[in-house]
Amino acid sequence: MIEKEKWERTFREPLDEPPAHEPERQYYFMEKARKYIQEASARAGRPLTFHVTTFGCQMNARDSEKLEGILKKVGYVEEPEEEKADFVIYNTCTVRENANQRVYGRLGQLGHAKKSNPHMMIALCGCMMQEPQVVEKLKKSYHFVDIIFGTHNIYKFAELIAARMESDRMIIDIWKDTDKIVEDLPVARKYPFKSGVNIMFGCNNFCSYCIVPYVRGRERSRDPKAIIREVERLAADGVVEIMLLGQNVNSYGKTLEHPMTFAQLLEEVEKVDGIERIRFMTSHPKDLSDELIEVMGRSKKICRHLHLPVQSGSSRILEKMNRRYTKEQYLALVEKIRAAVPDISLTTDIIVGFPGETEEDFQETLDVVRRVRYDSAFTFIYSKRTGTPAAAMEDQVPQVVVKDRFDRLLKEVQEIAGEVCAVHQGTVQEVLVESVNDHDPSLMTGRMSNNLLVHFPGGEDLTGKLVQVRLDECRGFYYLGHMV
Ligand code: SAH
Ligand code: SF4
Ligand code: F3S
Repeated sequence: MIEKEKWERTFREPLDEPPAHEPERQYYFMEKARKYIQEASARAGRPLTFHVTTFGCQMNARDSEKLEGILKKVGYVEEPEEEKADFVIYNTCTVRENANQRVYGRLGQLGHAKKSNPHMMIALCGCMMQEPQVVEKLKKSYHFVDIIFGTHNIYKFAELIAARMESDRMIIDIWKDTDKIVEDLPVARKYPFKSGVNIMFGCNNFCSYCIVPYVRGRERSRDPKAIIREVERLAADGVVEIMLLGQNVNSYGKTLEHPMTFAQLLEEVEKVDGIERIRFMTSHPKDLSDELIEVMGRSKKICRHLHLPVQSGSSRILEKMNRRYTKEQYLALVEKIRAAVPDISLTTDIIVGFPGETEEDFQETLDVVRRVRYDSAFTFIYSKRTGTPAAAMEDQVPQVVVKDRFDRLLKEVQEIAGEVCAVHQGTVQEVLVESVNDHDPSLMTGRMSNNLLVHFPGGEDLTGKLVQVRLDECRGFYYLGHMV
């Protein structure tokens, strides 16, 4: 999968050598890029602007904050509308085919916009770029793209920008994998009061349908000291809620020089003053330990919400998916969690139409949904990903059958979620106030520990505060309430 093109280094200040070590090297290139951008914006007679469009999961959202940190550092100004920006960056996802198609569609439109803006640059990065056939297609049919890079080297963004400004060619830099984690680079957070924190990168699980291990590389845990240092800095900066991020947080720490468990890490994070809420994503059921359940049960800060993807309710399909648990084990785990944390809200991911899925298998999935009674569930139609074992399996399920199952599943999930949501009516809950309500500016929107939203009268000054709200009326998947 290696696709690494060297570019010419014709530095304008040839005596000036970049440092060999990170992150110093990147700060050197940020400075260099800043000079080029200053010159370009002097020519344009206005500040140059950027827009990052993010596809995919929370990991990508966090990566985009890192890209934005670098962009601001080199002197670009954020532009809320993609079409108006001088530098457009697509941070892509390839977990399902439709995510891919959206990128190509939008890219075509960007190509037109570029014709009328001489300052415009386009960069593509993220999971889709780790697929060799994607990069081939871009090279062949999308000449107007300026920079292409992958998931393992986003920390080099400034270096790539500088390289592009010194050359007139498309810059492509994609690594197959890495064991490197570069710390202490700039980050521009989307929210002042909450933040994601990466605790691990990559995935070793190789669920048979999933492309993530191929595009994100092998599992690597971040040094716990670096994690705690980041959390402390965030707390000092006013952050009250953090979300620990990884494809499989429950296997955190296994590959560290001094191994530690995810539960132990949580206890360390819990000690950081100023952090009031801790969330994490995603938990793989096979690695969810009794120790973690115990820590969740006694924690004052870990939120009452667990996202526990089941994928299928059929043990036969779970085996073909390489999930390494059975329906019975999953249900037993749910029981154990509910016994330790009775008010926990459970959510999940479900795939419909995995190769060979029969109506009986599908009924097993419905059975799990009815037994667990999820607070919400993300339901996906199986998407064939090139290079994964499932793509080569026989008996791919016909689309009409999948669509019918998907509709039945969605109906069941929504009915149950509506009922489950309504049980909190009349209670008083602590909520973190996130924003002014989109539809009614007299209302503020807050998030409860269990991840449900409530809208209530209040002023913008409440943003980022934890307040007590009475839940007056359940409106399906959210509440209306008032502060007490
Ligand atoms: N690491 C997480 C999931 C990351 S991908 C976990 O293991 O839970 C998010 C979700 O996308 C998955 O949970 C799965 O439900 C879905 N997904 C992944 N590959 C898919 C595919 N090929 N087709 C349809 N859905 C898929
Ligand atoms: Fe994909 Fe499975 Fe890894 Fe999740 S655990 S990212 S579904 S391979
Ligand atoms: Fe998509 Fe990559 Fe996340 S494929 S779901 S953005 S890890």
